[in-house]
Amino acid sequence: MKEVVVSGIRPTGKLHLGNFFGAFKNFLTLQEQYDSYFFIADYHSLTTHPTPGDLKGSVKRVLAEYIALGLDPEKCTIYLQSDVPQTAELYLFLNMNAYLGELERVTSFKEKARTQPNNINAGLLTYPVLMAADILLHRGVKVPVGKDQEQHLEMSRTFANRFNRLYNCDFFPEPQAVSLGDNLVKVPGLTDSGKMSKSAGEADTIYLNEEASVLNKKIMRAVTDSGPAEAGAPRSSAVQNLFDLMALVSSPETIEFFDNQHKAGGIRYGDFKKQLATDMELFIAPLREKIDAMLGNEKLLDEIAAFGAEKARKNAQETMRQVRDIIGFSNKY
Ligand code: TYM
Repeated sequence: MKEVVVSGIRPTGKLHLGNFFGAFKNFLTLQEQYDSYFFIADYHSLTTHPTPGDLKGSVKRVLAEYIALGLDPEKCTIYLQSDVPQTAELYLFLNMNAYLGELERVTSFKEKARTQPNNINAGLLTYPVLMAADILLHRGVKVPVGKDQEQHLEMSRTFANRFNRLYNCDFFPEPQAVSLGDNLVKVPGLTDSGKMSKSAGEADTIYLNEEASVLNKKIMRAVTDSGPAEAGAPRSSAVQNLFDLMALVSSPETIEFFDNQHKAGGIRYGDFKKQLATDMELFIAPLREKIDAMLGNEKLLDEIAAFGAEKARKNAQETMRQVRDIIGFSNKY
């Protein structure tokens, strides 16, 4: 039997470069070799209280992006999380053995509690439990994610092992965060705010279908510094971010050229950013074209979502039949 791969992306608008290099790029390769489940994490997006209209729009958009960029419904199972309500049942069971102390210590929860003190809801606190439910529902072992999800995967292992111990069984495997490179990826944003993320603002984020003129403006306005103080001075974090972005889309010669200029203390950030904008546009243009072409394809997207939902539910039902049995619930009525 093939190993199971599971991963998802929250529908919060449209996919950005961080989603692509942190996760999606690996989905494309893994779908070829594994029994893969790729979903749209619409339950998870409720922690930020989107309107029904926004939620629908974002879900449709991300589904269109999944397909446009190469996920193949014949090779992997593509579905909306909310089409598989067994997720919620497993989440409930796992919550009974998830402890307040360990949930409060999760970095992403502490960060949210700090940045949005008026909306510290229980969904945020138990976010890693819902993630564990997504993965364990398919008994996933490989989970392609970016660096920011590493701690959540550690929690998934904790919950899987705790369930097995509690019920004296060996039912759930231990899921591992994976990347096809050597390390889990962190794509920086343009405003030196840390990882690229929509919550850091529009200026921080490069979308996969960014218009050429907007892309150019965003990169030309990216945060830098006042230039290396002397030859050999270390890169500031803002400038390192731009080199990291360049590493994703530019040739080794281009990177070396600007690296040498920085080392010599004579780099001109205007030229550096102009090159980055040019190379980024070369990378984005074909993606933008594919995404735009897929967006109006509503009937096809509906069919793909229905096909995937059925496959995912079937697998989920079988897992939950066994989980209910292990816990001691009746499967009779
Ligand atoms: P989300 O929607 O925030 O991000 C989706 C995926 O994109 C990756 N990512 C990044 N990687 C590198 N650099 C960045 N700047 C960057 N920004 C985003 C994330 O690591 C993620 O892999 N909780 C998840 C969604 C989820 C999930 C799951 C994932 C729900 N259930 C089960 C795996 C398995 C999330 O919010 O990702």
